[in-house]
Order: sequence, then C-alpha cells, then structure tokens
Amino acid sequence: MVEAIEQLQTEANEALAQASDAAALEAWRVDFLGTKGRLKAMMASMRDLSKEERPAFGQRMNAVKESLEVAFESRRSQMDSASPSLPPMDLTEPGMPGRLGQRHVLTRTIDEIVEVFARMGFSVAEGPEVEDEWHNFNALNIPEDHPARDSSENFFLGAGRMLRSQTSTVQIRVMEQSPPPLKIMTCGRVYRPDTHDATHYSMFHQVEGLCIDRGVTMIDLKSALFQFARAYFGPEAEVRMRPSFFPFTEPSAEVDMKMKIKGRWQWVELGGCGMVDPNVLKAVDIDPEEWTGYAFGLGIERIAMRRYGISDIRWLYENDERFLRQF
Ligand code: DAH
Repeated sequence: MVEAIEQLQTEANEALAQASDAAALEAWRVDFLGTKGRLKAMMASMRDLSKEERPAFGQRMNAVKESLEVAFESRRSQMDSASPSLPPMDLTEPGMPGRLGQRHVLTRTIDEIVEVFARMGFSVAEGPEVEDEWHNFNALNIPEDHPARDSSENFFLGAGRMLRSQTSTVQIRVMEQSPPPLKIMTCGRVYRPDTHDATHYSMFHQVEGLCIDRGVTMIDLKSALFQFARAYFGPEAEVRMRPSFFPFTEPSAEVDMKMKIKGRWQWVELGGCGMVDPNVLKAVDIDPEEWTGYAFGLGIERIAMRRYGISDIRWLYENDERFLRQF
C-alpha cells in the first residue's frame, strides 16, 4: 500500500512538472486532486484495509494530498508571473494624469468681482450670516411694519436672531466699527425662504458696496458702477439707473448693466443702489450734515448666470462635476 501511495506521488509530481500552461495545470488538478480524481480513488481503497492499518494509511494520504496542493499552488503562481499573455511594461508611456480640481464658478465670479473693486480702492469687509434685526432692519431704516420683515420673507431663528436676508447688514457693521471716510465692499451669502425654481433659491450671494466721505454725490455712485461694468463686462458695457425705492437709500435706483451675452448686448437688472439715507447714518452715529455716501447691492448669481449662460440657478448648488467642470 505504501508503495502505491509513493508511486502516485511520484507520478503526480512528474506530471505537474510537465504541465506547461493553464489548461494543462487545470487538467492535472482534476486528474489528481479533483473530486473524482486519483487521490480520492485511492482514499476509497481504505475500505479494504484492516482497522489497525487504516490510521497510518489515512495520515499518509493526507500528507501526500497537502504536499500536492502546495506544489500545485506554487506551480500556478510561477506560471502567472511568467505568463506571456501579459504585455511587457512600457516605461516610456506618459501615464494617467490625476484630474485637478478647480474653483466653483461662483467662487471664481466672487474673486473676480472683489479684484475689480479692490483695484477701485474698496477694501473688503465681512459680516456674519447669522444676524440680528438691528443690523438687518432697524439700523437700515426698515420700519417694524415693512413687508420685508414678514416671517414669510425671512429665516427667523428665535431669540432675535435671523439668517441675514441682504448684505446691507455689513454696511451697518462697518460703520459701527470704523469712523468715516469709508470705502468698503463685501461679498457673501444671504437667505430668503423662496421656493426653489430656475431663478430662485433659499440662499444666494450678493456684492455690496458702501462709500462714505465728505461731499460724495450720485455722480460718484454712477462712476463707481460704470467703472465696475467696464472692467468686468468689457469696454462697451453700460450702466443704467432707474428710479426706485429702498428704505436705506434716498434717492434710490435699480441698477441695470448692459453686457454681451452670446454675442449680443443686453440690459440685465442686477440690483439696487442709492445715496445712504440720513436715518441710516444717524443710526450709527455719523453726522449726516458732515458726511454723505452711496451704497449698492448686486446679485452675484445673476452676474454669473448671465455671463456663463447658466439657465437654472439650482445647478450652481448641486455639485454635479459634469456641470461645474465646464467653467
Ligand atoms: N439690499 C437690497 C436687496 O437685497 C439691495 C440694495 C439696494 C443694496 C440698494 C444697497 C442699496 O446697498 O443701496 O434687495
């Protein structure tokens, strides 16, 4: 019996050495180690042995099986690493570059706007997005019964706090902190409970400007807007002001800018502006007899959407790379 086992092991090892490809290797495995293979068949012959002989035979068979399994695995990995079906490695191939990220189209627009105003002498201010009613309404001369204070128009947070609905709050914060003359601008998020559609979202961005000095007039306001338009939209851009009303400016106007959209010059309404209302100056202890100023507030999404031909505001916030990668 022992010889028979040894004979089988020798045959198996020789046959394994002969197996030269994956198919031959698999045929060898089926022949020797398979469920109907030669090892199994010899195992079955254990029936013919006496009770005393069986344990030694079983042990021997198991040892042979294990050694053949190990030999099989090593032959297989040897074959894998030497496999001629793998193409040789070409170290001169350029490789696959990792894709670089980029700034969001709104971030880029904000950076560009800030750069233009910075060049015009505005310094950059910032204010909190969680505000109080003093900065969002009272100090801006918005009376208690004004519709802009309605709970349907604002995100009130309780305890006198709210998400700011306009960046005009930053005007107040700056004037409370620093004495005039002042020339500041700010860009940031504002929040209103609008139902989301192609042109509305509950969060959007505004750019706000404020200039307070002695003898500031509407000419300075229009000049600043005009300079911005030319610098940002090109040398043929125009600015138009239409009479309007805002509680914090007197007189007030809507601002339109003429910009080139898909090769055609078009007027686009961008926001509001005006001369700072004396009541606003008084609220922050600035003497309106000595100081005057102008202010403006423009929608950043409007600027970016028109400029880049984006027809649905929601795309700006969905973070779909296929959309964002285009800019
Ligand atoms: N805060 C206004 C709004 O959100 C926009 C605005 C109008 C800002 C006139 C100003 C201004 O600074 O002077 O609708």
